[in-house]
Amino acid sequence: MTSGSTPPAALSGRILSGIQPTGSLHLGNYLGAIRNWVALQKEFECLFCIVDLHAITVWQDPKELMRSTREVAAGMIAAGIDPAANALFVQSHVPAHAQLAWVFNCIARLGWLNRMTQFKDKAGKNRENASAGLYVYPNLMAADILVYKATHVPVGEDQKQHLELARDIAQKFNNDYGVEVFPLPEPVIKGPGTRVMSLRDGSKKMSKSDPSDFSRLNMTDDADAIAGKVRKATTDPHPLPDSVAGLEGRAEAANLLNIYAALTDRTLEQVLAEVAGQQFSAFKGKLTDTAVSVLGPINAEMKRLMSDPAEIDKVLAKGAAKANAIAEPVLSEVYKTVGFLPRG
Ligand code: AMP
Ligand code: TRP
Repeated sequence: MTSGSTPPAALSGRILSGIQPTGSLHLGNYLGAIRNWVALQKEFECLFCIVDLHAITVWQDPKELMRSTREVAAGMIAAGIDPAANALFVQSHVPAHAQLAWVFNCIARLGWLNRMTQFKDKAGKNRENASAGLYVYPNLMAADILVYKATHVPVGEDQKQHLELARDIAQKFNNDYGVEVFPLPEPVIKGPGTRVMSLRDGSKKMSKSDPSDFSRLNMTDDADAIAGKVRKATTDPHPLPDSVAGLEGRAEAANLLNIYAALTDRTLEQVLAEVAGQQFSAFKGKLTDTAVSVLGPINAEMKRLMSDPAEIDKVLAKGAAKANAIAEPVLSEVYKTVGFLPRG
């Protein structure tokens, strides 16, 4: 990690990604996000941000938010993020995120925000009662990325629209002021399992906010919990098909197979060649063993890290110092560009 706003030449660019400290980390977070981040560390300068400012766009119990912020940090370190080589930090520890977000509130158009599907999903029917923060959430996300002039942003499918908006904001800022302050960040969306669905309903994504804990495998689940949840996972009465086409209209079967493929680093086709014709009961046994073998060691390391919260806080403070060193000069450049008087 270097300070300053240009990535080191030996690396392919600068990555920023964010994760919300709300509820438990689950298999969707691991397969769709964290596992990819671990792999990207070798190739990119990386900043990983635990987005507590985003979290409070919907109500969070303060004690639980604190616990969850440390748990996400522990989960990321346990899964293989190296906080010494990267910046792992908490969003509210770097004031430039919120400061740049305000500038972006004045760049983004209402029409752009009105198209955001995540707002519609999260606000639900009672839109009048959603927080103003939830509405401008994508502007803050754009600030998270652009305050580091990040070139690449690894996200799950569900965040692609927000990343498009960040690009639109970067472009409009550059155009409006006739500058080249911001690069246009590229999404990095890859690998099987980028969209992990609920274990109870194959049409809904696996989510921290699903009220049923049976809908997800948490990174903190032990072997018994994993076995119980996989056993209860929704299926259909047919044996497993021998081709991807045979999964048409079988969302739950497709989801379990996708998870199995992602956990074993194989394609859906390769997995189908192994399990074609099997009953769910046999397949679920295999899936359980695989999930336990992947999540078990992460889970154990998370527990160890969580037993020493002060140590986690120290790691996060170091991460924030690295992040601030990059973000501050970028914010100053933006403030100067828009015509704010320098601070004395
Ligand atoms: P969140 O849990 O919404 O804070 O998301 C953190 C990261 O995990 C983001 O990169 C998401 O795209 C990713 N993610 C969350 N849920 C899923 C899921 N069910 N499948 C795949 N990726 C997910
Ligand atoms: N909105 C993302 C999510 O819900 C989290 C996030 C916030 C993020 N800021 C980000 C992801 C910046 C990537 C880059 O998953």
